[in-house]
Amino acid sequence: MLRRLHQDQPESFAYTEANLKWAEAQISKYPEGRQASAVIPLLWRAQEQEGWLSKPAIEYVANMLDMAEIRVLEVATFYFMFQLQPTGSIANVQICGTTTCMICGAEDLIAVCKEKISPKPHTLSADGKFTWEEVECLGACTNAPMAQIGKDYYEDLTTEGFADLLDKLSAGAVPVPGPQNGRFSAEPLGGPVALKKYAEDRMEHNASVALALEIGDTVKRIDGTEVPILTPWLQEAPVETPSEEEIAAKEPRPAEGEEVDETGVTEQEAKAKKTGTPKTGDES
Ligand code: FES
Repeated sequence: MLRRLHQDQPESFAYTEANLKWAEAQISKYPEGRQASAVIPLLWRAQEQEGWLSKPAIEYVANMLDMAEIRVLEVATFYFMFQLQPTGSIANVQICGTTTCMICGAEDLIAVCKEKISPKPHTLSADGKFTWEEVECLGACTNAPMAQIGKDYYEDLTTEGFADLLDKLSAGAVPVPGPQNGRFSAEPLGGPVALKKYAEDRMEHNASVALALEIGDTVKRIDGTEVPILTPWLQEAPVETPSEEEIAAKEPRPAEGEEVDETGVTEQEAKAKKTGTPKTGDES
């Protein structure tokens, strides 16, 4: 599939203030001269903020990392996770079309997308709220068929339930992510058959769903204020480099002060008996 920049580009791009701080924190993870290593997280945050990667966003990231723009463009066009065209203002709906989901109804979900969003993937719906695409396995095969909507997974979908989800999202609601059939996580449909005691007194939602509800960023454009920026490595006291004399003073000297034999080897250094060779008939 040919991936190139979209024909309609915005005038400019800039991170929000909090996203800029976040990006600078990411760059500080890498040693001097290796800032280019932060290219993927910085592009990803630009996409999380705007919904897609525009040419100005790619140039902005290149400038921050002191990279040639073509190098950043290469990364953006190589990875399919980067959207090079505008996505829906509410969400880009990603339907898993790999084996398990396909067997369990992914094609029906895609039919819903074609009807409710657009006949073609990567194309804005008439109201601009949604785009959709088919993606490869998202690792929730037990709960097939499933879709990633925004940042979260909606699993155990039915055609009707999925259409209803899209209607609710369109109306401004954010349905609870996770399994949509009452399943807690990925246990058998009839309930757990092992480790049953762990199913007693469990939380209302599994950890992924609970975190999604706590942060509330399922279909939010990320502006950097959602979670605190953690940079403990910047607070640590700088490590003092010892001098050569100090290093030499700490060097172990196993033979120091020991007598050596005529071969120049000390008792301490050598004389291990040969134990690794099996006996032969000659040795007796
Ligand atoms: S096959 Fe769909 S999540 Fe793995």
